[in-house]
Amino acid sequence: MISIVSTTPFNDQKPGTSGLRKKVPVFQQPGYVENFIQSIFDSVAGYRGQTLVIGGDGRYFNREAIQTAIKMAAANGFGRVMVGRGGLLSTPAASHLIRKNEAFGGLVLSASHNPGGPAEDFGIKYNIGNGGPAPEKITEAIYLRTQAIDRYAIADIADIDLDRLGTAKAGDMTVEVVDPVADYADLMEALFDFDAIRSMFASGFKMVFDAMHAVTGPYAVEILEKRLGAEPGTARNAVPLPDFGGHHPDPNLVHAHDLYELMMSDGAPDFGAASDGDGDRNLIIGKGVFVTPSDSLALLAANAHLAPGYRDGLKGIARSMPTSGAADRVAERLGIGIYETPTGWKFFGNLLDAGLATICGEESAGTGSNHVREKDGLWAVLLWLNILAARQQGVKDIVREHWTTYGRNYYSRHDYEGVDAKVADDLIGALRAKLEKLPGTTVGGLKIAAADDFSYTDPVDGSISRNQGVRVLFEGGSRVVFRLSGTGTTGATIRVYIERFEPDPAGHGAETQEALRDLIAAAGEIAGIAERTGMKVPSVIT
Ligand code: G1P
Ligand code: ZN
Repeated sequence: MISIVSTTPFNDQKPGTSGLRKKVPVFQQPGYVENFIQSIFDSVAGYRGQTLVIGGDGRYFNREAIQTAIKMAAANGFGRVMVGRGGLLSTPAASHLIRKNEAFGGLVLSASHNPGGPAEDFGIKYNIGNGGPAPEKITEAIYLRTQAIDRYAIADIADIDLDRLGTAKAGDMTVEVVDPVADYADLMEALFDFDAIRSMFASGFKMVFDAMHAVTGPYAVEILEKRLGAEPGTARNAVPLPDFGGHHPDPNLVHAHDLYELMMSDGAPDFGAASDGDGDRNLIIGKGVFVTPSDSLALLAANAHLAPGYRDGLKGIARSMPTSGAADRVAERLGIGIYETPTGWKFFGNLLDAGLATICGEESAGTGSNHVREKDGLWAVLLWLNILAARQQGVKDIVREHWTTYGRNYYSRHDYEGVDAKVADDLIGALRAKLEKLPGTTVGGLKIAAADDFSYTDPVDGSISRNQGVRVLFEGGSRVVFRLSGTGTTGATIRVYIERFEPDPAGHGAETQEALRDLIAAAGEIAGIAERTGMKVPSVIT
């Protein structure tokens, strides 16, 4: 019943910031999915008889990839596969399922916020037994294996009915099709004060949650509408679609523009939120105020003790290097640790496992805690709701008070997309080459205090990750950071992160791009962005 199939390597199966992401037609090449999954299995040991969790964000090709994965898990000797009904599991729900069931690991099928469809993106990510993305030493081993692979094992069995809850057999292996929402919703109920949030909704509080036709729809309907009593229709675009309705399921001001417009209008509800393709990102907008992800991380950390799950306080906060320093000020005041990691959630796993950090976040709209080992969009929304219910204040007042207490970190990210890969590499290379000469020089009236290429030593296992982004720090604490995206599927994306700290409340009312104008110009000049790319303005500003 098991076939051992000869194969030859594909030379492009290097996992990026978050697993292997390619266009669907690339994944559809015969043997492509099989090679990658076999390379994962070949790179880890000890899974015989163990459980593998499988689920995805419902995008085009999800079901096909899952059927292949189940047959390969059976042929390779796993004892049990748990798969979400319909092939669905949000990324945080998959992480929770792995942890709750002490699974060996999991396959998360998603390309996050990238578009879906026959010509769009797909992805496969491997998570380890702590529920989090495989660390670099495993993703590197997987990549090495993809370059040498010569056979894969697959069971010759019928497809599993993914739409029927219950247990089936796939060869000698058991397949459990589980409700993708129930366990996750229970976890949320254990962390947050659902009674307080329910009373807030009962007394007329209104919110809109945009699921962007991605995986969080069913989760939001169950948690917000059914368990918390928000009015029906609170969750919008709540039916997951293979092509996300033709949109990018990216909860930012560009792709969730309708929500933004609504929240800035006179008839805005009290709270607006959205999540991405696989449910790990979040967008938070109050009535008339967008909360930057970096500010949201700081605010959540400062107020987390208001939620039952965090009543005893936080052990520490971790943020990715390009994320603003707003959270650092909260950590300082709370007298807890602050950790600065490279971009990507995989770097938070060790800190969470070791109990060094409780809450983590990235400027790219990812926030989460030690309840799972992934960032978690709905978790952030629910923690916000818990805080709003406890403080009985609006988002705007809470944000303003926070800035008054801690100062405001003006922050923006400028992305230059679809850049020729060599042009992008050369730009970063040229920056690296002049790092040593930058300190002491002045660009556009701003004096450079320090410049480096970020290197991270993991405090838990001592592993070192180099070349994680070029930082230019100015006198007075402002900075710009340059790095290349590790998640794109076409050309290169140059990300420029710009930050300025303003301690004085009198200076907190400026428009962000205006407040950063001189730094934006300096960044362009230091990196020669316009000359090298031919792009005068970024493709996306967040
Ligand atoms: C992007 C974000 C990063 C996030 C990752 C996965 O990676 O910048 O913070 O962890 O997506 O969601 P990048 O494309 O910058 O490598
Ligand atoms: Zn995502």
